[in-house]
Amino acid sequence: MNRRTFLKRSLGSLLTLFGLSGGTYFYAREIEPSLLKITEESITSPQIPNAFNQFKIVQFSDTHLGFHYSLEQLETLVTKINNLEPDLILFTGDLVDEPNNYHWDDSLIRILQQLEAPEGKFWIYGNHDHGGYGTDILYETFEAADFTLLQNNASRIHREDASFLLAGLDDAMLGNPDVSQSLRDQTASDFTILLAHEPDLADMVKDYPVDIQLSGHSHGGQVRLPFIGDLYTPAYAEKYVQGKYSVSDRLTLYVNSGIGTTRLPYRFFCKPELHVFTLHPN
Ligand SMILES: [Fe+2]
Repeated sequence: MNRRTFLKRSLGSLLTLFGLSGGTYFYAREIEPSLLKITEESITSPQIPNAFNQFKIVQFSDTHLGFHYSLEQLETLVTKINNLEPDLILFTGDLVDEPNNYHWDDSLIRILQQLEAPEGKFWIYGNHDHGGYGTDILYETFEAADFTLLQNNASRIHREDASFLLAGLDDAMLGNPDVSQSLRDQTASDFTILLAHEPDLADMVKDYPVDIQLSGHSHGGQVRLPFIGDLYTPAYAEKYVQGKYSVSDRLTLYVNSGIGTTRLPYRFFCKPELHVFTLHPN
């Protein structure tokens, strides 16, 4: 652990011990977690076929249902996502905070079913999905809600005679991510988007022919202080925490700050976030 990490963790522990003070505490606990930031990004590449000009992708991540995030809140989010009229919807892991303590019922499936995207809905496992014996029930829930799992494999997204490759990795902490396996159907000219729950996998992904990596997991740190930044991020989100990174000449990484919270029910200078990506051929 380097000095900066040590200082941030010490400060984070102090804040946790004494709680955020007065109005700040109220804001971080009651106000900011219910806000929503919609981050719009243009992705431009000569690899993107012309047929995908203006193609719109919405990514949401880390809802952590059951930990200060309810089905009613998810239903509101679903309406907001549908109002963006995405062509494709992506979920990058951690649907439920603790699958073994969650009160599962069909209303969750019904809400996820309401998400609408003509080119499909795709998801990958996060550590909280595999954790708490959640692997099977998360699979059944997403299947019933018309989401396709990407777990070291890919789907080809078609428009007219053109296509691009959408690949997804298994979770890095409690699964077995395999990038080459996920790209086995790739052709040399494919524009390729890869979903990986943990952003720090980008340092491995950059050695493969991937254009865009979309991740979550970090929650952007959840609590960020002016001049200091995030106080704490989980393993595999220590290097890449929030926003856009040019990892190599080819690979760009986008890290989503997530929707819900985990460990502590606070957000500060780190609003829940939706990403809207619009594709543009050069
Ligand atoms: Fe998460």
